[in-house]
Amino acid sequence: MTNLYRTLQLEYLDLYLIHWPIAATPGKRAPLSPFDKQELMPMDFKSVWAAMEECQRLGLTKSIGVSNFSCKKLENLLSFATIPPSVDQVEMNPVWPQKKLTEFCKANGIIVAAFSPLGAKGVSWGTNDVMDNEVLKEIAKTRGKTVAQVCLRWIYEQGAVPIVKSYNKERLKENLQIFDWELSEDDYDKIGQIKQHRMMPKEDFVSAHGPYKSVEELWDGEL
Ligand SMILES: NC(=O)c1ccc[n+]([C@@H]2O[C@H](COP(=O)([O-])OP(=O)(O)OC[C@H]3O[C@@H](n4cnc5c(N)ncnc54)[C@H](OP(=O)(O)O)[C@@H]3O)[C@@H](O)[C@H]2O)c1
Repeated sequence: MTNLYRTLQLEYLDLYLIHWPIAATPGKRAPLSPFDKQELMPMDFKSVWAAMEECQRLGLTKSIGVSNFSCKKLENLLSFATIPPSVDQVEMNPVWPQKKLTEFCKANGIIVAAFSPLGAKGVSWGTNDVMDNEVLKEIAKTRGKTVAQVCLRWIYEQGAVPIVKSYNKERLKENLQIFDWELSEDDYDKIGQIKQHRMMPKEDFVSAHGPYKSVEELWDGEL
């Protein structure tokens, strides 16, 4: 941890997350990419969370949370946590609305942070399925907004926090203009008809030798 703070030139973090509910062979690279599936290991949730809690108690981070955790994994974490996770950062947009998770988190005081709120179009892990969605385009046209604004407003109205990324000044401004209007019932009816699918099933974490033998296991059937 000390090295991390030196590298970041920070005294503390605002929020520290477990990125994925999976571990890698000790001493090897964190399981991002590229990695050998042989290195995948089950995460010892109890001891990892105890260490996260210790980071918060020591003041190294203001809050702790998780990312890519299903309701079932959150439920397990809550069964032994002395500090509950403040955030679950997950893929969420009108094409993958995360209804069940949003309700679970609301009932348990956990904030949902929505990554890839625009489907990460143009990003290596992304899809065009959100920004090029005809229903969202139609709503945007009718409302005089952009598809990005419709997505971000929808996430905001779900009580979640959109984490949108842009390197473009104009688009950064555009993405902030979502607070002085709202989606109508008609818009919700249309969004409800969009065929749902997860952009990032994360098949690369599925292995016959690892903790998850299928994407169903990784997401506890929340697919
Ligand atoms: N926890 C996790 O496992 C996880 C997984 C994936 C992503 N994330 C994080 O989530 C954050 C955002 O997600 P993301 O980058 O995957 O997806 P995103 O925010 O949905 O999409 C980013 C892409 O959208 C473009 N964009 C932004 N605003 C736009 C607008 N108004 N109109 C048109 N295009 C627009 C950006 O291009 P320009 O830069 O050219 O505007 C960029 O190509 C990132 O910080 C990422 O690291 C976390």
